[in-house]
Amino acid sequence: MEALSRLRTKVGIVGAGPAGLTLARLLECQGIDAVVLEDRSRDYVEHRVRAGVLEQGSVDLLADAGVADRLRREGFVHTGIELQFAGERHRVPLSELTGGHSIVIYGQTEVVKDLIAARVASGAPLYFEVDDVRLSGLVDGPPVIAFGHGGHQHELHCDIVAGCDGYHGPCRSSVPAGVLKSFVREYPFAWLGILAGVAPSNDELIYAHHDLGFALLSMRTAELSRLYVQCRPDDDITNWPDGRIWEQLQLRLGLPGWQLAEGPVLEKGITPMRSHVYEPMQYGNLFLAGDASHIVPPTGAKGLNLALHDVKLLADAIVELYATKSRAALDTYSQRCLRRVWRAEHFSWWMTSMLHRPEDGNEFEVRLQLAQLRYLVTSRAAATSLAENYVGFSA
Ligand code: FAD
Ligand code: PHB
Repeated sequence: MEALSRLRTKVGIVGAGPAGLTLARLLECQGIDAVVLEDRSRDYVEHRVRAGVLEQGSVDLLADAGVADRLRREGFVHTGIELQFAGERHRVPLSELTGGHSIVIYGQTEVVKDLIAARVASGAPLYFEVDDVRLSGLVDGPPVIAFGHGGHQHELHCDIVAGCDGYHGPCRSSVPAGVLKSFVREYPFAWLGILAGVAPSNDELIYAHHDLGFALLSMRTAELSRLYVQCRPDDDITNWPDGRIWEQLQLRLGLPGWQLAEGPVLEKGITPMRSHVYEPMQYGNLFLAGDASHIVPPTGAKGLNLALHDVKLLADAIVELYATKSRAALDTYSQRCLRRVWRAEHFSWWMTSMLHRPEDGNEFEVRLQLAQLRYLVTSRAAATSLAENYVGFSA
């Protein structure tokens, strides 16, 4: 019979994405033991290209947790974004409209690398390439997380389980059917994203509305561009040779007198778009955070930021539990997170609906989109609403 090792910690964290790693770091800063379990390899999670926009509050959180030195050195502070439609480009001055708030462009891959490096340096437990994660004792506890690692079976006994395992992870599915309510919207389009080895052609992000479909110019470093084009959700990446991607990007982002610089495509992939919320974010001693509990379409750049906000509230509530034995903050965790989640869900849906070519090309809808975009770039009130949501709004 195979040896089954018994481990004990206060908080068992499933998933070493931004949510799980940040929670672990925040708890470590407060002297609270946690164990992080991740089913992928370290190399895989450090190179999974995803988000790039950090709200000021996310930057401050990472700085308070002592993991923002490189972010501060290498991240690009942006004080505005550009909206392009009807052959015109307009700047939304985020900082001017929000009393000085800005965003920082710094890849999620880099956030994850910094958090992993800090955890490895401190020697705190973080297991990669675990398998067969199973939860029990969530309500009639204490909770146990069973998992395999290195060919051995283990049992992690803990007080609290943090489900930070993303949209497809096992934590949410451990909750019995009927307990969580699910709210969902699928969109009839997707994003094809590339990472290109070329200097960004613009200093700020450009969100472009175009008859051929949406396009976005973003960046990672002075030598790396990140670009997206709207495509069909059932599209296959093999339909998109590099030449076709650049052609579509040139058409959708190009303006007289301005051209997009091209370079080698280093990575490409298609991301479906959906909005999804599961309520509540708690089941007994299981607390869900980040994509495990809610998904937004990427147009508002909110997913990573929501994940960090969730774990900040969760970490504070766990600290309160051990400091005072009070579960009051844990018991209101879900309710407090969901307020911001639904604000971000609305903003992301709104940005998505305004900028993407409707599937059926419905011209009435296109005219409404253009009217909304024109309003945004002519009304300070409308632009302020976009800006305060984009930089991160707390209700
Ligand atoms: P994840 O990053 O999904 O992490 C979950 C972790 O759990 C993963 O490492 C996974 O391997 C692990 N896991 C899964 N199953 C198991 C298991 N069985 N056992 C153990 N571990 C498991 N957000 C923004 O804020 N700004 C942006 O600009 C932005 N752009 C985006 C662009 C794209 C193309 C995409 C796809 C997303 C974007 N997002 C953006 C969203 C953002 O990337 C996610 O919201 C963010 O990754 C959520 O972090 P998380 O830690 O909750 O989940
Ligand atoms: C990105 O840089 O990957 C990015 C930027 C803005 C978004 C989404 C993704 O809205």
